[in-house]
Amino acid sequence: MVNKITVVGAGNVGATAAQRIAEKELARTVVMVDVADGVPQGKGLDQWQSAPIEGFDSRVIGTNGYEETAGSDIVVITAGIARKPGMSRDDLLNTNAGIVKSVSEHVKNTSPDAIVIVVSNPLDVMCWVAKEATGFPRERVIGMAGVLDTARYRAFLATALDVSVRDIQAMVLGGHGDTMVPLISYTTVSGIPITQLMDKATLDAIVDRTRNGGAEIVKFLKTGSAYYAPSSGAVQMVEAIVNDQKRILPCSAWLQGEYGMKGHFLGVPVKLGRKGIERILEVTLTADERAALEKSAAAVLEPMSVVKL
Ligand code: LAC
Repeated sequence: MVNKITVVGAGNVGATAAQRIAEKELARTVVMVDVADGVPQGKGLDQWQSAPIEGFDSRVIGTNGYEETAGSDIVVITAGIARKPGMSRDDLLNTNAGIVKSVSEHVKNTSPDAIVIVVSNPLDVMCWVAKEATGFPRERVIGMAGVLDTARYRAFLATALDVSVRDIQAMVLGGHGDTMVPLISYTTVSGIPITQLMDKATLDAIVDRTRNGGAEIVKFLKTGSAYYAPSSGAVQMVEAIVNDQKRILPCSAWLQGEYGMKGHFLGVPVKLGRKGIERILEVTLTADERAALEKSAAAVLEPMSVVKL
């Protein structure tokens, strides 16, 4: 465990992430910060009161300021407004850019050595805002999207094949939007290529459902977006870092020439350990996958160009 993990935003994603971090005892102290008066305090106290029953010793506290977050090892940024039905992640652009910028400046001042995991949307653009505002190196600003999109893809495949989710290996790369790139050529069930187990039409439908996985939940909930799987995704990354697991996970990373791209974040396979991003893996892509990744990069660059930092 590390000494302190801060979760910024005590909404559904942030609060669920804080509870999962505490239950896994990934930090001695878990601090939840939110601008809403009383909300992080109330949720933090409620979570701490679950500790005697769940049996964890991580202390959860809630606050409206950054004093108590000082010296955090990891900061998970979930702050921002969520999508309503019919909204794209890009519709959140300018509001959330302002929020993420201000949060990141606080993080820079109070936790200058922290590893930052960004969850706020539109994800890949918010990662860039956080990187610019903190000035942290790319190893320490990482976006959570690929883990979530891959989890959705794996869940849909497991349902269709009636097999354990554990046996499905897959990676969804690209931006966290409709242009994301589920890699069919790297999708296997215990090593068996997916194309041997499923016809193309079924697989195409699952790829399509994965791309719209977030919107499907927004449509059901009507008043907000998904949070159980998004918080699970963020906590899997936290765990990989805290326990120096060297996991290979699809995460949004600042590219400096990898895949022939640079100057923006995009979902790529990375090695996550105690130092954050310890390596970016460049895998061979089919011509279709490469074209899809380039299209996805364009969909990240476009909203970046209208954000004023
Ligand atoms: C989703 C939101 C959190 O994909 O981006 O559900």
